[in-house]
Amino acid sequence: MSEHGEGWDWAKPKTDPLPPEIDTTKPSIARVYDWFLGGKDNFAIDRQVAEMALKISPGAKEAGQQNREFLQRVVYHMAAEAGVRQFIDIGSGLPTQGNVHQVAQQVDPAAKVVYVDNDPMVLVHGRALLATNGSTTVIQADAREPQAILDHEQVRDFIDFSQPVGLLLLSILHHLNDAEDPKGVAATLRAPLVSGSFVAVSHFCNPGDVDPAASQQAATVEKVFNENLGTGRWRTREEITEYFGDFEVLEPGLVPLPEWRAEPDLAVRNALLYHTYYGGLARKA
Ligand SMILES: C[S@@+](CC[C@H](N)C(=O)[O-])C[C@H]1O[C@@H](n2cnc3c(N)ncnc32)[C@H](O)[C@@H]1O
Repeated sequence: MSEHGEGWDWAKPKTDPLPPEIDTTKPSIARVYDWFLGGKDNFAIDRQVAEMALKISPGAKEAGQQNREFLQRVVYHMAAEAGVRQFIDIGSGLPTQGNVHQVAQQVDPAAKVVYVDNDPMVLVHGRALLATNGSTTVIQADAREPQAILDHEQVRDFIDFSQPVGLLLLSILHHLNDAEDPKGVAATLRAPLVSGSFVAVSHFCNPGDVDPAASQQAATVEKVFNENLGTGRWRTREEITEYFGDFEVLEPGLVPLPEWRAEPDLAVRNALLYHTYYGGLARKA
């Protein structure tokens, strides 16, 4: 694997210098997650952190995969079954397989998607991927400043707030620590959404007494994440539920990711992981 993050410019991956804002000496959440998903857009420092987490939680790659599958199921539900035609994806991550716009635009090629991430590498890759897609855009912005996201020129250009919106908060709120007020962030982003809109959440979970072994493992991985990435909170189901606010949580509720409307025979290969990653979808009545 190249030390230059092979994928960053598909035309000339080995000769172009990296944009200066991409710091390869510090791990980045987006690039660590990319490694878990089998991507190439990561550096040695990202792989070190990912491998440390993998030692404690051997199913971490599978967990990332389950999160992506959950993303695809919720987006497909919103687009195909509920007719949503515009999506805001906060903390969208580096482009990978089955991105939000690919799922939504399979249903309707005109569906609009705005990707939002604060990692400069996401912007570089996103722009390359989306150069020819007029219905999708990517902006660099910080989830901790949610009103600035809503007021962003490109968000205003792409999203018609008089129509339903699918707001995606997938594996992002657990990267905000408690002092950064993830509940307030979710509330601000939900506020302008009209009836028929949705919010989808996936989040690391500490199941506590529901599953003491998984709870212990969650606490250990949380420590590794915080020591190396400065982020990562495994919250309780009750805390995660608050991110839906007064939206109605749809069946089957906030559940372990493989339980959310998956194929009935989906194998759950790693029992310890099961209660440490939850997801759900809620609708504004
Ligand atoms: C684990 S990835 C999740 C990607 C995608 N949402 C998914 O569920 O597959 C988390 C992403 O959130 C981004 N992120 C972390 N903190 C952020 C912040 N304060 N504002 C915007 N993006 C952030 C990271 O750069 C990373 O790309």
